[in-house]
Amino acid sequence: MSEVKVRPMADADLDAVLAIAASIEAAPHWPPSAYEAALDTVAIPLRIALVAEISSVVIGFTIASLVSPQAELETIAISQPFQRCKAGSALLSALLRELVSRDVNEITLEVRSSNLPAQTFYSAHSFVTFSRRKGYYPDTGEDAVIMRALLPLSRK
Ligand SMILES: CC(C)(COP(=O)(O)OP(=O)(O)OC[C@H]1O[C@@H](n2cnc3c(N)ncnc32)[C@H](O)[C@@H]1OP(=O)(O)O)[C@@H](O)C(=O)NCCC(=O)NCCS
Repeated sequence: MSEVKVRPMADADLDAVLAIAASIEAAPHWPPSAYEAALDTVAIPLRIALVAEISSVVIGFTIASLVSPQAELETIAISQPFQRCKAGSALLSALLRELVSRDVNEITLEVRSSNLPAQTFYSAHSFVTFSRRKGYYPDTGEDAVIMRALLPLSRK
């Protein structure tokens, strides 16, 4: 696979990001306004939004909200044909580096209990399960698994 480049999400990426989200059942399906709001650099909480691209084509994205020293991973998705090729790892690693540079020391996320591939992915990136929210997802009634990773101190 060609090299994966990770960079901040821009307005011009929104069509591609929406198309990827719509094509993946396991990804959260936010309205366009939520992605636009994630690009607001003065919003509270602040959001970090990144895209992964290959040969200038957007193939994935991630968004985290942060109130330092804590952050929440709100969404991450890689276009299906590019999954399991380490693009998600490149994206998540870049996000974690960005959060460390902003003095975040803990990141949490919630994931459907049925989404074992994502839980394995997060475990491979040092997330551990620490809680469960019973019947959290109204569409299926399934539990949310809450995972957390502790981040190293910034070396700046
Ligand atoms: C979860 C997701 C972001 C992972 O991105 P990815 O680029 O496919 O993952 P990577 O190739 O970087 O995988 C890294 C490691 O994570 C684990 N992993 C990733 N996908 C996996 C799968 N389908 N099954 C089991 N383990 C998996 C493996 O340990 C893998 O390492 P390996 O391939 O050497 O075994 C991506 O598969 C995706 O977009 N899934 C659908 C959307 C989703 O579920 N988002 C999370 C909602 S909470």
